[in-house]
Amino acid sequence: MAMAKRTFDVVVVGAGGSGMRAALQLAQAGLKVAVLSKVFPTRSHTVAAQGGIAASLGNIGEDNWLWHMYDTVKGSDYLGDQDAIEFMCRAAPEVVYELEHFGMPFDRLDSGKIYQRPFGGHMQSFGKNPVERACAAADRTGHAMLHTLYQQNVKANTNFFIEWMALDLIRNEAGDVLGVTALEIETGETMIFHARATLFATGGAGRIFASSTNAFINTGDGLGMAARAGIPLEDMEFYQFHPTGVYGAGVLITEGVRGEGGYLVNKDGERFMPKYAPNAKDLASRDVVSRAMTIEINEGRGCGSHGDHVLLKLDHLGDDVIKQRLPGIREIALKFAHVDPAHAPIPVVPTAHYMMGGIPTNVHGQVVAPYKTGPDEVVHGFYAVGECACVSVHGANRLGCNSLLDLLVFGREAGRQIIEDLKSHPHVLPLPADAGEFSQARLARLDNQTGGESVAEVGDAMRRVMQKHCGVFRFPELMAEGVAQIKQVAQRVANTQINDKSRVFNTARIEALELDNLIEVAQATMIAAEARRESRGAHAREDFPERDDVNWLKHSLYFKEGYRLDYKPVRLKPLTVESFPLKARVY
Ligand code: FUM
Repeated sequence: MAMAKRTFDVVVVGAGGSGMRAALQLAQAGLKVAVLSKVFPTRSHTVAAQGGIAASLGNIGEDNWLWHMYDTVKGSDYLGDQDAIEFMCRAAPEVVYELEHFGMPFDRLDSGKIYQRPFGGHMQSFGKNPVERACAAADRTGHAMLHTLYQQNVKANTNFFIEWMALDLIRNEAGDVLGVTALEIETGETMIFHARATLFATGGAGRIFASSTNAFINTGDGLGMAARAGIPLEDMEFYQFHPTGVYGAGVLITEGVRGEGGYLVNKDGERFMPKYAPNAKDLASRDVVSRAMTIEINEGRGCGSHGDHVLLKLDHLGDDVIKQRLPGIREIALKFAHVDPAHAPIPVVPTAHYMMGGIPTNVHGQVVAPYKTGPDEVVHGFYAVGECACVSVHGANRLGCNSLLDLLVFGREAGRQIIEDLKSHPHVLPLPADAGEFSQARLARLDNQTGGESVAEVGDAMRRVMQKHCGVFRFPELMAEGVAQIKQVAQRVANTQINDKSRVFNTARIEALELDNLIEVAQATMIAAEARRESRGAHAREDFPERDDVNWLKHSLYFKEGYRLDYKPVRLKPLTVESFPLKARVY
């Protein structure tokens, strides 16, 4: 049966920071915009971002965008594209002031200016000493930002489709993108969202790992849809582990704690980061700190009866700083670690946090993939921003606070580009005759499958493989085994069954559909990791411990079809300034 259809100028999938920033731009331009979100918009995962938004405002210490650019290039372990990084760092102050004018309740200095705190890897004078660059609203910056953007979107008449899950991308024979199919979670109703432009802002996929700071909604939906539609995924081997997830729970403890003066200690009470990063210490970049913690644990200096975590000490900051700057952290520590950080340290471990890879785009948010005439072309009608996209500004390792910045800069830019592109495409392209059938077949399989496996069990198997075989340090035999095992799990995913539909309504269906997406991300991550024979940023191999710029200074592209990998060069040339030359990365 043909699916119902609605037509919009633009369909945005995802209502986090990047989706809402883009939607705002589009709705303000008078376009008819639909935003689909699996959850109420202000519950999107941006709400969990704590520490701040990076911008070289220089409100406390001297700063400028070129230092920010240098830090981001260095943080990326030189895999970030320098033109995109220049674009982002230059635009940072402007998008932050814009947000301020939208009503964002930033913390303030006595002067009335926006409060800024130091963050990992953000330094003055090309790497000399930490600088206050993170523009913060206490430790709830993402929460404040998301509410601000939501309110502006309501004012601009953006159409929200709340608790709708996008299922599949619709492409015609030429490869043009014409919209998505989607399912209303409450009713199970399906619909085609036919549009002149489709923007993915679906966020990350931290739920491929057993221990993650990510919300349960972070299931890589955009990447799954893109991979199934023949779009490659870029740099998937680079997954960031945040140093401070609450031990046993995974909940994020912001790097802002270390920005405010907190530090990590091992079981002997030793502050160990100066051994690994003599200059930046606890404010080195995340890959460096996560590796240092793992070494401390592996060498027998971990804390607790299993010696499997370290401690984050902040009691010396005093009640006032904790109450004023880190109130959410106190709450999280009390609830999830059962400690009051004003008196006792928080047990923490590196925890899967952020996907540096994603759907390949240019700086305008246009998806770039094999298309009509070449391997590296803009795909008509298709855009991606935020964590699901790979621009690439984060390269092999993202700096803290550059993610909220990325959402604002590229959300706004994608909005601008779509407005421009739609001027020459005033009408929707016709849908192919079989539009929606692929999604209907996927749903029918789930509804009719008998004798299949439980979604929860197969999902657990996937998470166990990723956690064991693709962690902070990566070992050759484990990765080879991981590739074989994740392919086996993928076969099991194709055979999952929803149990007792009447009892669980659509939640079981949604979990099954999410697993279809997660497994695409897990396979891409595992396969690309096994193939990259060097250590760079978050990808640290035991058998190839050094960065290899001769053979591996290149982006990977993973194609679902045949598990194929291809590579493309890193763009080392910035837009207007000199390139930052490759050098050893020390903090
Ligand atoms: O530590 C944090 O507050 C996280 C920030 C980020 O991932 O950018």
